[in-house]
Amino acid sequence: MEMPASLPHPTHWLVRISEVFAEEEKGILDGLSAGGRKKLGRGFHWIRVEDPAAIRGSGFSKFLRWNLPVHHSWPCHPPDVEGFVEKAAQALARKFGGAGVQTLIVGPLDPGAPQRYYKSLASNLRGRALQLFPESIRVVRDAEDQDPDRPTLFCLVGAEGLYCGVQTPRESNGFFPGGTKFIKQSGPDAISRAGAKVAEAIHYLALYRQAPPAAAHWLELGASPGGMTAELLQRGYRVTAVDRAPLDKRLHRQPGLVEILGDAGTFQPPVGTKYEMILCDMNGDACGAFSQVLRLTEYLVEGGMVIFTLKMPGVGNIAEADELEAEVLRMAKASGIAPIAATHLTYNRYEFTLFFEKIGSGLKKV
Ligand SMILES: C[S@@+](CC[C@H](N)C(=O)[O-])C[C@H]1O[C@@H](n2cnc3c(N)ncnc32)[C@H](O)[C@@H]1O
Repeated sequence: MEMPASLPHPTHWLVRISEVFAEEEKGILDGLSAGGRKKLGRGFHWIRVEDPAAIRGSGFSKFLRWNLPVHHSWPCHPPDVEGFVEKAAQALARKFGGAGVQTLIVGPLDPGAPQRYYKSLASNLRGRALQLFPESIRVVRDAEDQDPDRPTLFCLVGAEGLYCGVQTPRESNGFFPGGTKFIKQSGPDAISRAGAKVAEAIHYLALYRQAPPAAAHWLELGASPGGMTAELLQRGYRVTAVDRAPLDKRLHRQPGLVEILGDAGTFQPPVGTKYEMILCDMNGDACGAFSQVLRLTEYLVEGGMVIFTLKMPGVGNIAEADELEAEVLRMAKASGIAPIAATHLTYNRYEFTLFFEKIGSGLKKV
């Protein structure tokens, strides 16, 4: 997407690296040839990069949960600045009012901070700036209502100041400043934490594709104890859940669910079955798990999609993670399955979530 001509060519970027990769941080930033590094908020790095292609199109991209070219920054300590919100909002309107952005979204640089000061500052700044921008940007009410392919003004505010830039949500890798929507675990009685992981994956997928159709049939490999299954059923989807271990008994006899107790390697769908989605969260050898997914894509409708957790047992560095991903992508290509995206979600541990589609026109692009 062409950026508005009025914006200067950015020299600095804000990138976010998940805490899981804290030990790899230096290697990831070296790989991006990042200069002038400064840590900001939680997991953000303010870096100088000559070649933006390294951020969005290299093997290091999947380690970056979110990224933004910085078109405007105000390094300061907001509580010490009198009239911070008014001054910041006026500057945003002056600089970006004519940039033709679809909306502006402001978030805290430290999203998990217990004190609400920067969350309210972010919301006050957005409120005031919206009043100063052209009426047209008020049409987008929720971050998820954004067109993933139109530029947005993203702003982050924290103890280190204000950092803003214009980029499409898809290029930034999330609809929210910093990444995906924060999805809470459904409480202590949740069947497993994976429920929030699949909810986040479906939210992320909206950057690229329309949501799976209502009542879509999901084939789920590695479903036990059933956190993801419960989430899918709750959304009205049908699920065939395969695992060597049983599902939590709260799921027994749930409408829309077929439970297959057995090995994914020997599972054969009934004749004539078609799935709209395949979800795989199996642990163990990643290539072994993926080969089962590929075998079963025969039963996926054209345009159907695969959500695959790329688990990395035994992988301890960036090069090995890259090699494993490359192997999975080779396997997919050889089977006619196209990659859509690869990312690290809030609920991913040392693993990535990969999205693929069976080439065809079944499910529409966004
Ligand atoms: C991380 S757990 C899945 C958690 C699950 N997605 C949830 O929402 O609760 C991984 C599961 O993969 C299953 N698994 C691993 N290899 C398998 C195979 N070859 N066939 C069937 N299940 C397998 C394990 O039994 C285990 O229950």
